[in-house]
Amino acid sequence: MFVTFEGGEGVGKSTQIRLLAGALEAQGHAVRITREPGGSAGAEAVRHVILSGAAESYGVRMEALLFAAARSDHVETLIRPALDGGSMVLCDRFMDSSRVYQGITGNLPEPLIDALECLAINGLRPDITIILDMPAAAGLERARARASKGDDAAASVPDRFEKEELETHEKRREAFLDIATRDPARCHVIDATRPVDVIARDVLSAVETLLAKRQNARIDA
Ligand code: TYD
Repeated sequence: MFVTFEGGEGVGKSTQIRLLAGALEAQGHAVRITREPGGSAGAEAVRHVILSGAAESYGVRMEALLFAAARSDHVETLIRPALDGGSMVLCDRFMDSSRVYQGITGNLPEPLIDALECLAINGLRPDITIILDMPAAAGLERARARASKGDDAAASVPDRFEKEELETHEKRREAFLDIATRDPARCHVIDATRPVDVIARDVLSAVETLLAKRQNARIDA
């Protein structure tokens, strides 16, 4: 099963991925955690170019192509082989982030985003997407608090996208919610303003419901 986590800055994706991985491993599942941009060697090389802002001056089309290139490498060299090997893959951001950041707030036309998505994922759609939702201001505050604590060197400097205006972040929140409305079978919106353990319980329950459905479908077949 391929599980993706999406949402704005500071909504707690990495914490929830870690908790879900622990719970699934305790049930005997093999779990692989990964992230975007990055995850595989080729994609990590592209990650630095994008997040440092080095590609910003070349425009949003170039950035979107770089995200797609990184995603393609990630899908073919890590995600698909891990799924084929029987692991559950939990990925921090995936195709919906491109749709929101480059498509909605980057103003790239939807057909272009569709085409890049099709190339990058090559048929590998997430089985379930957890959208962690909270007001943009609260998420940004958390992202900044994390940065100022300085316990994660990579997080201590706001990246290219974190620096943008609050209005832009609010627009992204709405765009993630819109994706969920358009694809309710795949997307689960979870209120991320609540305590960590309460959120974790909802995340696990969404994944377990799908696992049970799959199992029943197999028994019926
Ligand atoms: P990262 O440091 O991984 O932050 P986060 O904890 O918010 O996931 O940075 C990833 C940034 O890249 C984030 O601001 C979202 C952005 N992004 C896109 O713009 N498009 C994409 O397709 C992806 C995967 C990420």
